[in-house]
Amino acid sequence: MKLLFVTSEAVPLAKTGGLADVAGSLPKALKERGVDAGVIMPKYGSIPESVAAQMEPLATFTVWVGWRRQYCGLLKTEIEGVSYYLIDNEYYFRRGGLYGYEDDAERFVFFSLAVIEALHFMEKPEVIHCHDWQSALVPYLLRTKYGHVAELASIATVFTIHNLKYQGVLGTQQLMDLVGMGEEMFGHRGLEYHGAANIMKGALEYADKLTTVSPTYAREIQTAEYGEGLDGLLRHRAADLSGIVNGIDTSSFDPMNDPALVTPYRNSLAKKRRNKLALQRELGLPESESTPLIGIVSRLVDQKGLDLIAAVLWQLLDEDVQLVVLGSGDPHYEGIFRHATESRPDKIKVWFGFNDSLARRIYAGSDMYLMPSLFEPCGLSQLLALRYRSVPIVRETGGLIDTVKSYEEETGEGNGFSFAWYNAHDMLYTIRRAIGLYRDEKTWEQIVSNGVKEDYSWTKSAKAYTAIYQELAARRNAAEL
Ligand code: GLC
Repeated sequence: MKLLFVTSEAVPLAKTGGLADVAGSLPKALKERGVDAGVIMPKYGSIPESVAAQMEPLATFTVWVGWRRQYCGLLKTEIEGVSYYLIDNEYYFRRGGLYGYEDDAERFVFFSLAVIEALHFMEKPEVIHCHDWQSALVPYLLRTKYGHVAELASIATVFTIHNLKYQGVLGTQQLMDLVGMGEEMFGHRGLEYHGAANIMKGALEYADKLTTVSPTYAREIQTAEYGEGLDGLLRHRAADLSGIVNGIDTSSFDPMNDPALVTPYRNSLAKKRRNKLALQRELGLPESESTPLIGIVSRLVDQKGLDLIAAVLWQLLDEDVQLVVLGSGDPHYEGIFRHATESRPDKIKVWFGFNDSLARRIYAGSDMYLMPSLFEPCGLSQLLALRYRSVPIVRETGGLIDTVKSYEEETGEGNGFSFAWYNAHDMLYTIRRAIGLYRDEKTWEQIVSNGVKEDYSWTKSAKAYTAIYQELAARRNAAEL
């Protein structure tokens, strides 16, 4: 089975969030199941020259973006057995960072058009699997603009929603101009959205199968509360929509074998504590084994529940805890954390930016991991926290519900702590409950070992994806699609 992932980011080449981890690790897991998954993505300026220089040029062609002809290169490289194809256009992608430009919509319309052109220069996949709005135009174009090209029309498509909030909205005239199509784009099954054009809708309407990254989020996005204006369409496609929880790369994230840590460990909390002392030393916090250390590795944005943390930060710091934060994002939250570190240097340390090896030391060195998200399609950090025996404290939403069960004293079950309503005081109450139980060593060991029982690898989920690809390939062969 030949498969192509279309994504705007993938580890190790480019990353802003969890999508990159999924696009970087799922193809490897699929390979083990006999699915030959390649990845196609933009060649960003941030990809190191040393890596870029190793890439093999496959083809050059031109892509019409509106009235402009854009040169496009197609490069290929292999990373851990997975073929990576890179779309090379300096005008669109040789910039600092991945997104956040005024012409992002145009950049990814170009990317989608270029991916379709690139198919002529590689072995044709049976299934194309697109991720998030940046590649959502591909399923749409294959069935409309290119619907008459038999060899393209025969490719089945899957679209995964990693985050419904970002949809790629632009003017209708602008989109028609960019892709060279007319008003037919906005009629029945079209991309119209409150008078504008919505790229995400292209995939929600036309992909053969839709998935998202947890069963709970799959249900939530069919409601007005979480549907971001597209819940009606998602309800309409409910029969083709499923939720598959993400896995993590358990060989890369393995506390027994992680070069970032001072002391390897698996189940020994005593050895884990040595990593905690090392982290406290590294960051200049008072070294104390008994003080509960709470870790946060996150984009500092509303989605991740930062406003709840900001609302009770001072009360939290009055507890006997230490807080370690790694991330960047909204300057408002960065300011709050900067101020807190200046006034309470003995209680809180913050590192702005991304630092993979410090992130690993935080998972290893923390006792608890705080993730009070407003919404969370899947969430990967709570899985990494569990893998590193840091007990997650989460809000009950999306993938957090599917992966974290609140500890119950009566049954002794549960691998973390959770609260239902998006409310800072419920969160603080839950953190205090965790701190209380932390003092009871036996109970704490029980909670930690409950978390160890689960399998966070890709095994189960790669099987679920494979079943979807196989069903589509079979339907394609029977010419049902
Ligand atoms: C997005 C979601 C996150 C999910 C990740 C990978 O970043 O916000 O919940 O884990 O995509 O699917």
